[in-house]
Amino acid sequence: LGKDIHFLTECHSTNDLALEKIRKRELAEGSIILTDSQTKGRGQRGNRWWSEPNKNLTFSLVLQPYFLDPSEQFELNIAVSLAAAETLSEYFPGIVVKWPNDILHLEKGKLGGILIENILSHKGIEYAVVGIGLNINQAMKEIPFATSLWDLTGKEWDRWEIFKLLIAKIEKNYVLLKKAEKKQLRQKYLECLYRVYENHKFDDGEVFEGEILGIDQFGKLIIKKNDGSINFYSFKEVKYL
Ligand code: BTN
Repeated sequence: LGKDIHFLTECHSTNDLALEKIRKRELAEGSIILTDSQTKGRGQRGNRWWSEPNKNLTFSLVLQPYFLDPSEQFELNIAVSLAAAETLSEYFPGIVVKWPNDILHLEKGKLGGILIENILSHKGIEYAVVGIGLNINQAMKEIPFATSLWDLTGKEWDRWEIFKLLIAKIEKNYVLLKKAEKKQLRQKYLECLYRVYENHKFDDGEVFEGEILGIDQFGKLIIKKNDGSINFYSFKEVKYL
């Protein structure tokens, strides 16, 4: 992965650009679109992703996970978010994954996010555009519950060194996924999952207390409520409080 890197000083959104280029058959598996500044970066739930120019990592990696059934889309989320958490953990302790794929420092907040967009065909997942945004050298102080490596360590970091390490880790996990080592990846994902096996408050329309037990085969969050019932949530159905 990462043998073909397209670098742009500025673009609207690396995910959008990757999707456009895939449609024109201009990008092969492993290609990366990397930019120093996005004018229309997109996040989960239709949110904007804003990142200060020249400070952070914003890129999209093109994969062709034809070996995954569309029902297994979440396995790629696991492989990539785990790789991102493992990478940043080499720079600072206390980095976890918040389901489904936020990269978080336990106390200081969100360090990065991942937006995977798939192109499906009759064959399965034909392309996956893996968009990653990590806060590296930006001072996030004004933004609530957001942090960066700079905020955590008080040091400026070499973004390309982090980028290279991250791509190597994604590649390693992607190879495991290809070899059908889903279980091993899921196990590691659970080990660094934010608030797993702890009692916390959630909101699914009603506020309740419960404990995250894990992730089901489709990537739904499994929460055992304190009343004993077990519930499965998709991304839009539950909020952490
Ligand atoms: C989130 O946490 O909401 C996901 C954020 C994903 C942001 C990245 S930055 C590179 C890529 N291009 C985009 O427009 N979004 C993703």
